[in-house]
Amino acid sequence: MASEKLKGKNIVITGASGGIGAEIAKLCAARGADLVLLARSIDKLQQLESELEHKHGVNVEVFQLDVARTDQVQAVFEQVFRDIGHIDILVNNAGFGVFREAHEAKMDEIKEMFEVNVIGLMACTSMVLPKMRARRFGHIINIASQAGKIATPKSSVYSATKHAVLGYSNALRMELDDYHIQVTTVNPGPIATNFFSIADEKGTYVKSVQRFMLQPDFVARKVVDSMLTRTREINLPRWMNMGSVAYVLFPRLFERIGKKVLNKK
Ligand SMILES: NC(=O)c1ccc[n+]([C@@H]2O[C@H](COP(=O)([O-])OP(=O)(O)OC[C@H]3O[C@@H](n4cnc5c(N)ncnc54)[C@H](OP(=O)(O)O)[C@@H]3O)[C@@H](O)[C@H]2O)c1
Repeated sequence: MASEKLKGKNIVITGASGGIGAEIAKLCAARGADLVLLARSIDKLQQLESELEHKHGVNVEVFQLDVARTDQVQAVFEQVFRDIGHIDILVNNAGFGVFREAHEAKMDEIKEMFEVNVIGLMACTSMVLPKMRARRFGHIINIASQAGKIATPKSSVYSATKHAVLGYSNALRMELDDYHIQVTTVNPGPIATNFFSIADEKGTYVKSVQRFMLQPDFVARKVVDSMLTRTREINLPRWMNMGSVAYVLFPRLFERIGKKVLNKK
């Protein structure tokens, strides 16, 4: 049973102060997992920590961490290993996007998106790999996006970061297969979270995709259900994944139609 499988497991979640990260944390705690929650907003993490410890009687540790700071990543993960010994599951969830056409994107913004969404994810993964390989056990779950499968206008940089996450994860999965370490990528379409307060300043995208926005608890449940299983990818909603299949088969046609139809930002 899924709930038994996670009992007593050590799960680390980045970007756990809100959105799907916080929802994943709540479900993991409900299934008896001990948690390490990481994000920059320490106050929000502390609030979640006391809520989850109180409600579910699990151990929760929180650390302030900006994943873009690789020195901080190293220090925090070293402390986590000292405190809890090993990590069974790492959920690389921290991330953000800014929707702009490539010619409008500022260099600082481009670098920051890559530093958080890609380098930060790789830095956290690098910290867990040696011990997971030595234990021949573990699960790395990388939250990418449908933007990592289908690039759309005004998400050139964000899409590029999520394509990078998928490329990295696919290679990692092969490297780790003989070590019984699972690698799952999660590719959701739009989810109703604070993500859009940064990504979609004018609110135009949110307005046009409102009717098919996913709820964060639904996405979190799919992620948590996949833990310690051999799930390769989670694509949500399912119908959106058909688009990425069509893209691979008919790229020119897809882009001709997509540049208008998919320009919702
Ligand atoms: N919402 C969507 O439509 C959607 C769709 C597909 C994929 N995704 C992906 O899902 C993930 C979670 O997004 P969300 O929708 O839950 O957005 P959200 O509500 O904005 O949450 C993002 C989380 O990431 C954390 N974070 C951001 N920058 C960070 C940094 N430098 N270091 C550490 N933590 C950082 C934030 O915490 P602090 O601010 O406290 O650091 C927050 O906890 C992201 O990777 C996003 O790209 C989102």
